[in-house]
Amino acid sequence: MAIYQLGRSVFGDPRNNGNLMTIEEANALLEEWVPNERLRLHMKQVAAVMKAWAIEKENADAATALKWELAGLLHDADWEKHPDDHCRVIIEELERRQIDPEVIHCIASHGPKYFGVEPENTMDKMIYVFDELSGLIHAYSLMRPEGYDGMEVKGVKKRLKEKSFAANVSRDDINDALSRINTSLEDIIQFIIDHQSSIR
Ligand SMILES: [Fe+2]
Repeated sequence: MAIYQLGRSVFGDPRNNGNLMTIEEANALLEEWVPNERLRLHMKQVAAVMKAWAIEKENADAATALKWELAGLLHDADWEKHPDDHCRVIIEELERRQIDPEVIHCIASHGPKYFGVEPENTMDKMIYVFDELSGLIHAYSLMRPEGYDGMEVKGVKKRLKEKSFAANVSRDDINDALSRINTSLEDIIQFIIDHQSSIR
């Protein structure tokens, strides 16, 4: 199993503040880097939830919401082709493209235990909160004949307690992420269900 520690804490260049890419450019990168459709879907779902949270809960303007969305969309972009070097490769690509440091730091901190980078601002904390839960909720939708229709928070919580269900989803990471914010697990689950169910 790879140990991903990045061994650095500063990402990007402050001169690139506000430098973003379009969603079309990010999707083109995903098409090239991520042949696995299910992994692409995972990133699109996290992106949709991140964008919605920025707009609905943080009153983000369009540029800020795009940052949140891009971080979600690209956070696992190198996972399929560089499993032993996960995060480092996409970070260096975004630095090469002179992307806003906040987007890069957000990606670098989406798994503090693995990358050795602590989430700092709200965007960092929320990607960490959403990442694993989004995957578990999607796995749950796949085993329900009705998919997301009628999915309830209590059903998700039940799956969360079942260690064998989506066993690769780290319950420790979910708890650690939630301990860093002031929103309940229940509210986060409902928010994810509401905002990722339509992403295909
Ligand atoms: Fe992820």
